[in-house]
Amino acid sequence: MFKTKSPDDLIAEGKKSELSKTLTVWDLIILGIGAVVGTGIFTIVGIAAQGGPEGVGAGPALVVSIVLTAIACVFAALCYSEFASMIPVAGSAYTYTYATMGEFMAWMVGWILMLEYAIGNITVASAWTGYLFQFLKGFSHVLPAWLVNPPIWLINDYRSATIICQRDHLDPNVVIPHILGIPISVNIPAILIVILVTLVLVRGIKESTKVAGVMVAINLLIIASFVAVGVFYIKPENWVPFAPNGFEGVFMGAFLIFFAYIGFDAISTTAEETKNPQRDLPIGIIGTLVICTILYIIVALVLTGMMPYDKIDFQAPIAHAMRMVGQNRLAGFISAGALAGLTSVLLIYQLGTTRILYAMSRDGFLPKSMRQINKKFKTPHVLTWVSGIIVIIGTLFMDINISAELCNFGTFTSFIIVCIAILILRKTDPDRHRPFRVPFSPLFPILGILTCGGLMFYSMGSLKTSSMLFPLWLLVGFVIYVTYSYKKQRELENKKEMLLNKAKEAKIKEKIS
Ligand code: ALA
Repeated sequence: MFKTKSPDDLIAEGKKSELSKTLTVWDLIILGIGAVVGTGIFTIVGIAAQGGPEGVGAGPALVVSIVLTAIACVFAALCYSEFASMIPVAGSAYTYTYATMGEFMAWMVGWILMLEYAIGNITVASAWTGYLFQFLKGFSHVLPAWLVNPPIWLINDYRSATIICQRDHLDPNVVIPHILGIPISVNIPAILIVILVTLVLVRGIKESTKVAGVMVAINLLIIASFVAVGVFYIKPENWVPFAPNGFEGVFMGAFLIFFAYIGFDAISTTAEETKNPQRDLPIGIIGTLVICTILYIIVALVLTGMMPYDKIDFQAPIAHAMRMVGQNRLAGFISAGALAGLTSVLLIYQLGTTRILYAMSRDGFLPKSMRQINKKFKTPHVLTWVSGIIVIIGTLFMDINISAELCNFGTFTSFIIVCIAILILRKTDPDRHRPFRVPFSPLFPILGILTCGGLMFYSMGSLKTSSMLFPLWLLVGFVIYVTYSYKKQRELENKKEMLLNKAKEAKIKEKIS
């Protein structure tokens, strides 16, 4: 259970990879911004400022929450950079854990990473539907009514549809149709966008980066326009009181806004497809984090300056703020930019899910047939579809808040584990060549553990539903390991040993003859 894989073996396996090495440092930064800027800044910023059913908001002090979260992320980003340059293989935190803490922890981290990537994508796909209808509403004078205002059971999961019915004083049993007593509520646009993204990913990594590049350009242009116009509507009195809910609001805001930062680590999953991973991965990871932090601080200052924090919208705060100051056309463009941003997040997260599952299947945790590479496009097409189907199934059962909180818990845990893994490898293998080193180690990795752990445990007190589901997720992973993965690993070990013995026998026979 605690058997580690040597970094040299991992690197050798990575070198044999059939994935094509085409990504440059610019591709990595585009992928990074594409993975980071999305639901967090376009949607979750509203609930982080104002608070929600399970926690209070930061108010204008959201900007402090953003800086706090950036500090927690920077320690983790430095640790990711050291690993990514030292062991440039596809599995990200999963691989780093295998090299330091052994098989069981590696499996658990792989399982936890599915919370970050696959469950996180459920949030993004649901937010995508929200912004799609914000966008279509701008064309309500030309589009048919059924397209602009479809029945809620065709654009929401069951839980969200029920919440909307309650909010609008409707009876869910009348509004939501039933087949054989089972309520039917399916987020069709979310499913369609996930299918589209899967098709792009199967076409190839370079094609996927090109699509992400276009999306990132639109996204950044829209955010820049929001800032350039919004700055003229700032009323400094909206920044008073600055922190209406004190530290509690600031910490809860920091936990929620963490979702907006997730994604810089996804770059490390493309290590086997990067031309010069040892130099470019650290630049890509840290560059992305710096650019996104600056962007978020500016957006938060403008947004909270434009309107009283308790009037900020939950679903589409940025577009709503523009509408409130009479900039309707720009509000429509913002919805289009948000759609582009969310599409790039979906794309890169699914890319990440696939690459982690690919590394896990190479280590024998998943059947070999799953990591088939498409001959023409050189992509792991079976796993790409598996990842897509996981998200589609998830959209049927989970709502946007629960999936975002679970994603945060999963990501905090993997960041903490990567920081611990850096400390372990510095002790067990101090002489290994490290093209990039975390400065001030062990202080920085320890600060990473403390800041990520602090934010996570603090929020657990308030977020009751996801705090229950998270340990349940860990338990399911543990049960799968004990009943399936452990045996599978031993079978593989026996097979390897038999092959080795056979090879030895053949050599001896050859010598004798
Ligand atoms: N950081 C990504 C987003 O905000 C997950 O959508």
